[in-house]
Parts: sequence; C-alpha cells; structure tokens
Amino acid sequence: MKPDIRVNSINPLKVLTVFGTRPEAIKMAPLVKKMEDDPEIRCSVAVTAQHREMLDQVLELFHIKPAYDLNIMLPNQTLYEITTRALAGLKDILEQEKPDIVLVHGDTTTTFVASLAAFYRQIRVGHVEAGLRTGNIYSPYPEEMNRRLTGSIAQFHFAPTAAAKANLLREGVGAEHILVTGNTVIDALLATVRDEYVFGDSTLDSIDYTRRKVFVVTTHRRENLGAPLKNVYRALRAVVENYPEVEIVFPVHKNPKVKEAVNEVLGGVGRVHLTDPLDYAPFVNLMNKSCLVLTDSGGLQEEAPSLGKPVLVLRDTTERPEAVEAGTVKMVGTDEEAIYSQCKILLENPEEYSRMASAVNPYGDGQACGRIVSGLKYFLGLNRRKPEEFTA
Ligand code: UD1
Ligand code: UDP
Repeated sequence: MKPDIRVNSINPLKVLTVFGTRPEAIKMAPLVKKMEDDPEIRCSVAVTAQHREMLDQVLELFHIKPAYDLNIMLPNQTLYEITTRALAGLKDILEQEKPDIVLVHGDTTTTFVASLAAFYRQIRVGHVEAGLRTGNIYSPYPEEMNRRLTGSIAQFHFAPTAAAKANLLREGVGAEHILVTGNTVIDALLATVRDEYVFGDSTLDSIDYTRRKVFVVTTHRRENLGAPLKNVYRALRAVVENYPEVEIVFPVHKNPKVKEAVNEVLGGVGRVHLTDPLDYAPFVNLMNKSCLVLTDSGGLQEEAPSLGKPVLVLRDTTERPEAVEAGTVKMVGTDEEAIYSQCKILLENPEEYSRMASAVNPYGDGQACGRIVSGLKYFLGLNRRKPEEFTA
C-alpha cells in the first residue's frame, strides 16, 4: 500500500503516542519533547501503565504528563490481562482523541495492542524501532511476535538501523514506507550522561569506580524466569566470591518473580549491592562508570556499546546483532559455567577486555528524534522531501 496521505497534507498533525513500560517511555520521551516543540504537530500521550512505578520514574524525569492513563498493571500480570485491559481502554481513548496517526514503540504487549486498537478504528500507525528480528518467535518471548505483528499493522516504519530496514524489505514492506533513523535511546543517553556525575546516594557514591571492577547487572526476560535466572545469579555469586576486586550493582526489576530469585541466591552476599530500579539518569551514569554490563535487556545492548562498556548478554538470541558484530557485545546465554568463564576472561585478560571495550555507535548519533519528526511530516504530506537516513 502507498502512503496515501501525501496527497492531502494534514496541518496540524494530530499524533497520539502510546506506551506503557519503562523502556518505551525512555525511548519515546525525547521524541515526545521534539513533537511538543513543533508548531505543525499536536502531540498527546496515552499510557497503558503496563508498568506503574518504573513508568512513572521516566514520566517524572522527562516532565511528560499523559492526557490518558489506563493504569492497567496488576501484580504478576499475565499476557492475557495486559492485552485485554489495554485493548478495552484504548478503544475509548481513540474514539475520543481521533488522532491522524498513532505512534508506538518497539515490542511490548502495549505496543502490539495499541497498534491493533488503532487498526480497528482504521487509524494509521507509525512504528518506532521497527524491523528488529531474532527469527525465533519464542525468543525474546513474546516480544519477537509483538514486534512482527506491530510491523504488519503499521504503515510507517522508523527502523533504527540499516539491518532493521533490510529485515522489513525482506518481509515485503515497501522501501517508501521505511525510514532509517537511528535509535532514539541514543538521543536520551547523550542528553543524560555526564562525566562528573554524582549519584546523591550513599551506596553508589561510596564505590571507588576507578579501583574496583564494577559490574552492572539487570534481568527481567519472561523466558529467563525460574531456573535460567538462578543459574545467572549463581555464576555472579561465584565471581564475587573468587574476585575480591569485583563489586556488583544490581538494580532489581519490580517483577516479584525476579525479586524472589535474586534474593534467594544473591541476598546478603558481600559486595553485591541490590537496589530498586534506578532512575534513568543515575542508571546510565552508573553504566558509564562501570567496567562490565551483564544483562538480558534489549535497551542496554544499545546504550552500553556507545559508552564503550563490554556487554555479556544473558540470552540465546539477539535482535540487535550490530554490536555483536562490532565485538562489544557477546552472547553468553544463561549457563552458569559459560557466564563464569566469560567473566574470568574479561577479569584476567586485559587485552580481551580492551578489545571489547572500544566504544562503537552502530545504533544512533543522537539525531533520531529529528529524523522521525521530519519523516512523519514527509509521510503525512507536510514535507516534500524524505529526510536523509541515519548511517552508522
Ligand atoms: C515488560 C515487557 C518487556 C519489556 C519489559 C521492560 C511485555 C509482555 N513485556 O516486561 O517486553 O522488555 O517490560 O522492563 O510487554 N512490576 C511492578 N512495577 C512496575 C513494573 C512491573 O510491580 O513498575 C511488576 C508487576 O508485578 C508486573 C510484573 O512486574 O505484573 C511484570 O511486568 P510486565 O510488564 O508484565 O513484564 P516485564 O517483565 O516487566
Ligand atoms: N534502566 C533504568 N533503570 C534501571 C535499569 C534500566 O532506567 O534500574 C533503563 C536502561 O537505561 C534502558 C531501559 O531502562 O534504557 C531498559 O529497560 P528494560 O531492561 O526494562 O527493558 P528492555 O530494554 O529489555 O525492553
């Protein structure tokens, strides 16, 4: 299908941005700010609040006041609950708001449901961070399928990298519907990292980041819940026990299943600092001061390489191959021995560490939001020229 709207330009353009979780909020925040500053765009925000506290942390930091808040989160929520509660709530919001386009981000269940809700009202959908694929619908689960389904519904695809665009082209999406923009997370990151950052937190400020080997750890993937996470935590426990120079800072995800497993294996272990999820600014500045990141997160695989921090990915697949190819990110899965031995290599072999620690920026240059706004205007007929695409 061709983008029909270039015929009748819409001005001002009514954009409804929908998100629900911490990473979507972080990655959409700089874009919302950019749209709010643009006289040709009327931008409003609806949150499903699939996450509550972790979403509110980001809304507060970026001073975003949603026009709509569905407040759907339940403790230990199921995919069915997120889907049905968000879909029912969005039906009424779309009816009331009547946007020209709904913008969604990434691969969460909020993302897929918001695009489905828009489709049911025949409202155009723009997909930010489109086209990432692992090729395995169960890994990450359910995110790979969420992203594919969102891609099938969307008319406009803001792909962060050339590889993501290539995935979409392979699936039959027309090149005229795709714009390579870079990832908006790099816009957020570059605006937030400061060399002389002070945390204002007694534990984080008491660590000597130049002398100690500080590991930053995060985990939350649904497919890792249970035994795989416990394997990861046992490997970390063995690392701190054998390497006295190592300190682990681990902001624990709010998911009760994650908290339980962390406390069981790592609770009370010396030099392991378990904290609540950190606000975005202290978190990225912590990564910037650390020596190694271990994570099953998607976003951290993009942020850490641009800070020059090696990443061990606690998953078997990644939809972000660029930094793996650049050598900064290594896939280690959730096997206890494998994680321990990769940590050992990085702690004992300075050459291997330096090889992984060179900063690479395959994911963005801090200009993604500007490109997306120009792209939106191009796709919807306000601008004549397609913006220049991001190249790494
Ligand atoms: C969700 C997304 C995942 C994304 C991740 C980012 C889906 C299915 N999953 O996974 O793609 O990578 O967010 O973190 O869309 N909780 C709180 N407070 C919060 C947030 C969560 O208490 O602020 C607890 C609740 O008990 C909730 C549980 O964590 O039921 C799980 O949250 P959920 O959004 O279902 O899954 P995530 O693993 O966070
Ligand atoms: N993050 C944060 N505080 C924390 C841990 C992570 O602000 O305590 C940020 C991190 O910088 C990144 C995002 O949250 O931008 C990643 O979110 P998450 O790992 O929950 O989701 P994913 O990226 O896997 O979808």
